[in-house]
Amino acid sequence: MRIIIINGPNLNLLGKREPDVYGNKTFEDYFSELQFRFKDIQLEYYQSNIEGELISKIQEVGFSYDGIILNAAAYTHTSVGIGDAVKAISTPVVEVHISNTHKREDFRHVSYISSGAKGVILGFGLQSYDLAITSFKN
Ligand code: DQA
Repeated sequence: MRIIIINGPNLNLLGKREPDVYGNKTFEDYFSELQFRFKDIQLEYYQSNIEGELISKIQEVGFSYDGIILNAAAYTHTSVGIGDAVKAISTPVVEVHISNTHKREDFRHVSYISSGAKGVILGFGLQSYDLAITSFKN
């Protein structure tokens, strides 16, 4: 099974960025742990701060991979283009957030991704990604 994690803007700063919200671990360290835990899955990781690059990556993998785990970060709440890309592809997308966006500012309560996603997992810290991978196994 081939699954890609696609992270949006500022998630390259995990470990340094607002640790009270997002924790102390870098995504690279966490990704190594995921690869160790899910040895039976071909896991890939892509991050970009640029909306169009995220759309291009979704299009590139969206007809051949078994799953996409997408944390579009701030673009979740603004990007019609990423929402449309998720709807345009055949690979199922699980939307993930580290924080519980519904407990935060009102603008984070809107998602342009959710209506095209297979499911949404949020608020479990980095464990949200573990849960998303597990969801593809079942
Ligand atoms: C986030 C939540 C978003 O509101 C925020 O802009 C992020 C990260 C999360 O994983 O909790 O950058 O997607």
